[in-house]
Amino acid sequence: MPVTQPILTKRIPTSPWGDPKTRKIVSIDEYMATGGYQALEKSLDMKPADVVSLIKDANLRGRGGAGFSCGLKWSFLPPPDGGRRYLCVNCDEAEPGTFKDRLLCDYDPHLILEGIAIACHACQLDTAYFFIRGEYHHQAKVVEKAIQEAYAKGIFGKQGLLNRKSTFAVECYLHRGAGAYICGEETGLLEAIEGRRGWPRLKPPFPAVKGLFGRPTIVNNVETLASVGPIVEHGLAWWKSLGCESSIGGAPSYGHKLMGVSGHVNRPGVYECDLGIPLRELVDKYCGGMRGGKKFKGAIAGGVSMGILGTDQFDAGMDFDIGRKFDVMGLGTACPTVFDEDTDMVAVARNIARFFKNESCGQCTPCREGAGWIYKLISRIETGDGTTKDLDLLLEIAGSMGLTAGTTICGLADGNNWAIRTIVNKFRGEFEARVRPYSVAVTPVALKLPHMVAR
Ligand SMILES: Cc1cc2nc3c(=O)[nH]c(=O)nc-3n(C[C@H](O)[C@H](O)[C@H](O)COP(=O)(O)O)c2cc1C
Ligand code: SF4
Repeated sequence: MPVTQPILTKRIPTSPWGDPKTRKIVSIDEYMATGGYQALEKSLDMKPADVVSLIKDANLRGRGGAGFSCGLKWSFLPPPDGGRRYLCVNCDEAEPGTFKDRLLCDYDPHLILEGIAIACHACQLDTAYFFIRGEYHHQAKVVEKAIQEAYAKGIFGKQGLLNRKSTFAVECYLHRGAGAYICGEETGLLEAIEGRRGWPRLKPPFPAVKGLFGRPTIVNNVETLASVGPIVEHGLAWWKSLGCESSIGGAPSYGHKLMGVSGHVNRPGVYECDLGIPLRELVDKYCGGMRGGKKFKGAIAGGVSMGILGTDQFDAGMDFDIGRKFDVMGLGTACPTVFDEDTDMVAVARNIARFFKNESCGQCTPCREGAGWIYKLISRIETGDGTTKDLDLLLEIAGSMGLTAGTTICGLADGNNWAIRTIVNKFRGEFEARVRPYSVAVTPVALKLPHMVAR
């Protein structure tokens, strides 16, 4: 696959174009001196509806995990009625193995802020909340400084560019999370900004209709918003020349994607690639190959929630077709965690199960109870105390959880479902090697209830 010039990281040295050690924070002056905020100027000369149409035609798919069309989401907003309308920027980034939005916050925050300003113009939103995960202390400082720079340069606020050119002012605030994975789910995030526990809301109504403080709201991922400026600047034909078409008659995967690779590779890190790059190429060309020359065993596709690619799926293309083609939930955040031949997949499953058990918000019984049982069953299997029946029970519990099974409020349970089922199905031999055959015979141990024990 040809390596095209970086777009999202054009000011951030990344391999293979630059030396990551030379990275520094791009100030607003440096950003503007290299073409920054020109896309905003251009968008302000366009009608808001035309910007929405452009992003819809570009088929920019959400980079936060679900891959939903950004322009389509924007088009769901009701017309302005004089009341408040919000943009919530999702920088919770708590999905294990995902660290791509952090790179933009660390070094080029104005690329995100420009996307925010364009989105606010396009959707006629007057207030933006930049929700950043609690653990991103340094990044919060960088973003806060960049917001102040943008106010000082007249991007946001009453005297701002948006106010002069599009007749309304946009206020932008940074909101720091408190460290819960569930606050990345878009309605959990809204609850958190409103000052409550991050419990996801039942949908519909969707946030575009009734979101933050009951008002129309768009929730977008950091990288999605960062991709908006380049589309406005360079146009549709250019954008469609990047990435790939669907090979199975689905929606295309246009553009570049930040892919954060971790695990058993020589050079873990964030790389900007065309969507569709085969995982093997990402590992070999960008990450310097498998660590210690070991063989590839499997990879979490894009955050643990998406499930796992098996040993024979190293050539899977990293695009939005990946779910339907390789039996994972989807591309997710496109941040793979790679495992080599020595990896104990039962231990991997136990670790993932522990994460979901800890992070379930507890509202839905299948998720709250199921996550606990999955963790107990896998722990039992790992220590050699499980039976073949536990394996079937594990798959049954996992398969019954989530939005796809119609049993929960949000997609956290689907993540648990897919992660566990794919790992057990694709590495079943390893699990079977750890369990004993199930016997229906009632053992004395089972009968040794406390009141029966001889005193
Ligand atoms: C449990 C859970 C956690 C999530 N965490 C994040 C996150 O950290 N960042 C993010 O952008 N989206 C996250 N999402 C997806 C959001 O709900 C939402 O789809 C996304 O922010 C929309 O932005 P996009 O369309 O630009 O991708 C999460 C979803 C679930 C179910
Ligand atoms: S699925 Fe899990 S995390 Fe999501 S609302 Fe229900 S209990 Fe909470």
